[in-house]
Amino acid sequence: MSDTVVIRPATTGLCGEVTFPGDKSISHRAVMLAAVAHGTSHIRHCSTGGDNRSTIQALQTLGVDIQQRGDEVTVTGCGWDGLRAPARVIDCGNSGTTMRLLAGLLAARSFTSRLDGDASLRRRPMGRVIVPLRTMGAAIASEGGDDRAPLRIDGRPLHGISYRTPVASAQVKSALVLAGLQAQGCTQIWEPVRSRDHTERLLPAFGGRVTVEDTVVTVEGGQELHACDLEVPGDLSSAAFFIGAALIVPGSELYVRNVGLNPTRTGALDIFRAMGGEITVLHERERYGEPVGDLVVRTSALQGTEIAGEFVVRAIDEFPIIAVVAACARGTTTIRGAEELRVKESDRLHALATSLRALGIEVAELPDGLVITGGRLRGGQGQSFGDHRIAMALSVAGLAGTGEMVLKGVDSVAISFPGFYDLVRELTGPTVTHI
Ligand code: S3P
Repeated sequence: MSDTVVIRPATTGLCGEVTFPGDKSISHRAVMLAAVAHGTSHIRHCSTGGDNRSTIQALQTLGVDIQQRGDEVTVTGCGWDGLRAPARVIDCGNSGTTMRLLAGLLAARSFTSRLDGDASLRRRPMGRVIVPLRTMGAAIASEGGDDRAPLRIDGRPLHGISYRTPVASAQVKSALVLAGLQAQGCTQIWEPVRSRDHTERLLPAFGGRVTVEDTVVTVEGGQELHACDLEVPGDLSSAAFFIGAALIVPGSELYVRNVGLNPTRTGALDIFRAMGGEITVLHERERYGEPVGDLVVRTSALQGTEIAGEFVVRAIDEFPIIAVVAACARGTTTIRGAEELRVKESDRLHALATSLRALGIEVAELPDGLVITGGRLRGGQGQSFGDHRIAMALSVAGLAGTGEMVLKGVDSVAISFPGFYDLVRELTGPTVTHI
């Protein structure tokens, strides 16, 4: 299929009932923990996106038997010691989560591994995992230089540390937890703000022990894990594009079923509500340690808002769609304290400022954020910057715009949401054509 789409403004609202693919972050962790557990785990509703395929293939390269049928994954783990020296470089593709978590997992194994990725991943900072892992005794070299991938990891015994992470990052925290579970002694991670806590919530299902007090996570070393069966909730980060679309495309009423509502991930819902978004949560429940529920979202009159502090961490992946929604709100939306967005799959602050301006929106780009003045999105040209979430957010801008948009680089949506355009067509009719 071609890498370019034409998107026409939606002429009807987004109505109906939708279930989203499995959460990407939880799927990574479920498969990794299963791979180092003893026994056979069955993971249902696993993400089938490119990033999760990178994790599965990486673990297969390490000798783990993983069978995938659609969104069902069966993993036969043989414990930490069941991992085998990889015969080739492990390709993490576009996935920061795969590379950073594997760095922690492999640092304590007794063999050498090399981790590499695509051009985007090679640009992303790895010092944030290299520095604390070295303090634990790890031998990790940045072969790309400047703490960038490729990484060479010469596995060796580790010891526990107490570490204050300079940035709130679930990837760093999880890498240290995976290393800490294999280390001698206790590992304690102090975060400035609590980042997503899926690793901590999943570990007990695999028989792991972890304590969480406020923003401090503690694991004891020398733990063995055991297989389990679980079901991954729908990905709120994927749902967010359709929640945003429903808020801004007139006449929408969308029912979202069985979506993850972990409070470390629901920042965008709070932000949309603060802007006047009508979002109702129904049937809140807990599944395998994760809060899930259903949502009803209706088209709303929105006004700009101010976003900073803990909201940035709790909405970290949702800024592309938040920016598009802000472009359709009355008044100004200010995003501050979000410099982390510069080191995601693309420099998202720059990508969003450039893209929204090209669609007729006034945007100021700050070192750590954006100031977006709501207006009328017109059609025009867009590009994804090779970033799946920029591609999906701009597609929503196209649906809510006043004219046709030609958007390049949309292959990237398959990183997290291969069925994205099928769902757009299902909900809005023939608005999207691949050309
Ligand atoms: C993720 C954590 C976040 C997020 C990323 C997925 C994870 O990154 O942006 O898309 O699965 O742990 P950081 O931990 O670097 O903030």
